[in-house]
Amino acid sequence: MQKYLHNHIRTLETDLPIWERFFTVAPLVLIGTKDNAGYDLAPKHMAIPMGWENYFGFVCAPRHRTYQNIRREGAFTVSYPRPTQLVLTSLAAAPRCGDDTKPSLLALPTFPASQVDGIFVEEAYIFLECTVERIIDGFGVNSLITGRIIAAHAHQDALRTSERDDQELIHTAPLLAYLYPSRIANIGDSYSFPFPLDFTR
Ligand SMILES: Cc1cc2nc3c(=O)[nH]c(=O)nc-3n(C[C@H](O)[C@H](O)[C@H](O)COP(=O)(O)O)c2cc1C
Repeated sequence: MQKYLHNHIRTLETDLPIWERFFTVAPLVLIGTKDNAGYDLAPKHMAIPMGWENYFGFVCAPRHRTYQNIRREGAFTVSYPRPTQLVLTSLAAAPRCGDDTKPSLLALPTFPASQVDGIFVEEAYIFLECTVERIIDGFGVNSLITGRIIAAHAHQDALRTSERDDQELIHTAPLLAYLYPSRIANIGDSYSFPFPLDFTR
């Protein structure tokens, strides 16, 4: 029997994860870590600023190399790829081979970070260097990894300045959105947010 809460609003079963039943908007970033054999990169969409100060967090499964590397090294990098880098971003999720390497990473051009032992993805538009702040295990099989941003860089075409119109900036340097579970969007059009009069944070 299908249950309805109200008019056309259906109640979902919560015995199973609900997130594949509808689309939600998420960012898509590449987390970089120091690996035994070099460096690892993995895409993550459950990734957000932790408040308005310089903290960043993302959800990661402890079975992923990313998690294990961060526990060991205490640091990670974040690259925000552009829509044109979608295929490369996806390749970073390719399975490891029998020898435990991820050869798909060879297709991703990178450059070194400045403050932590890590790498960034070429042509991305925001680059963060983080030291681990706290790792919180136990969200089912997942964990929240939080970091303090100790260095940050942005491509100049993505940087807001007083001389540049925000809509023009997003139009010329579009943003990549991940529509979980299975689609992406290229955001090139945007509108000013209608903040209420006298709004303060
Ligand atoms: C588009 C996309 C988004 C993903 N988002 C996440 C995420 O937010 N958290 C997570 O733990 N895994 C996520 N994954 C899965 C892992 O990042 C992926 O399986 C990766 O290969 C793990 O690599 P590693 O073992 O080198 O860390 C995502 C994969 C894809 C393709």
